[in-house]
Amino acid sequence: MADHRIAILGGDGIGPEVVAEGLKVLDRLEALEDFRTERVDYDLGGRRYLETGEVLDDETLDELRRFDAIYLGAVGTPDVPPGVIERGLLLKLRFAFDQYVNHRPVKLYPGVTTPIAGLTPERCDFVVIRENTESVYAGAGGRLYAGTDHEVATQESVNTYHGVERVLRYSFEEARRRRGHLTLVHKTNVLVHAGALWMETFERLGDDEFADVTRDYVHVDAACLYFVTQPERFDVVVTENLFGDIITDLGAAVQGGMGLAASGNLDPTRRAPSMFEPVHGSAPDIAGTGRADPVAAVMSLGQMLAFLGEDAAAARVDAAVGALLSERGDERPDGSAYSTGDVGDRLVELVAS
Ligand code: IPM
Ligand code: MN
Repeated sequence: MADHRIAILGGDGIGPEVVAEGLKVLDRLEALEDFRTERVDYDLGGRRYLETGEVLDDETLDELRRFDAIYLGAVGTPDVPPGVIERGLLLKLRFAFDQYVNHRPVKLYPGVTTPIAGLTPERCDFVVIRENTESVYAGAGGRLYAGTDHEVATQESVNTYHGVERVLRYSFEEARRRRGHLTLVHKTNVLVHAGALWMETFERLGDDEFADVTRDYVHVDAACLYFVTQPERFDVVVTENLFGDIITDLGAAVQGGMGLAASGNLDPTRRAPSMFEPVHGSAPDIAGTGRADPVAAVMSLGQMLAFLGEDAAAARVDAAVGALLSERGDERPDGSAYSTGDVGDRLVELVAS
């Protein structure tokens, strides 16, 4: 009998390739530690949509709901119009399963080259908690008088007290588990309505329930500057959905590239499955070439194992990733002498050491 049931959504492009490497590592971990997973593959994404016209039907959604976790590669193909797969699959899963936390570490591992001159690993180890169900992502808005020169397009940012409070609470708790500092990132000087809700809730929770956590506030534009110039300012950063989307790509660059950026879409209440995915996309230009770096997918696997309570296995993944990154230096999969599968094979060895 399996300890954890996991739905596997490889998706499009390099998604299935990097997930395959993660699953090799998972096989090895199950042999090393005392746990078993049952995995069920789901064929979803842009390619499947082009073949069948189906993005994600209710029956599949109900099936997915019964898993303990979802392990996702990447979805999206260039020949599908923008939004179809993003909204119809990825965001639909995040919203349907109320995965209100998007947990994205920004950590510079020893041996990794960052584009930031002089930056050292000691100065760059924080996590961004991106609100994952609201803001402009909620989809409120529309177009009026389309095709006329009076056309109006609105895209509203939805911020509920319920949504803001719960992600701030998770972030304070995360800060308590880490170095005890939480930074709110927003744009309160311009977005005065949403900003006030975030700020007031942040201050009240901080004063009433998390007095042991130090806190500060940084505008999102300044946060971009500090991610680059002073990443040591940050321990846990919490922000709304769109800002979080944008600044975590910057975070990925700082820590050495999209190939090293992992994420967990979490429902901390555990009513529905959480979903773990590399931050990178399907990279159709390099699909099938053996040049995709599976490290972010393996890091996301580590997050999944930690969330499932497999702490020993998660610690093995973190140590193996650290060892791999320091031994390979600037080498990246090139599809010939060193390919996606070679990275996976080496990680399979390293998790056992
Ligand atoms: C991400 C991606 C998605 C997002 C897209 C593909 C909808 O950029 O996970 O960061 O904006 O959330
Ligand atoms: Mn993004």
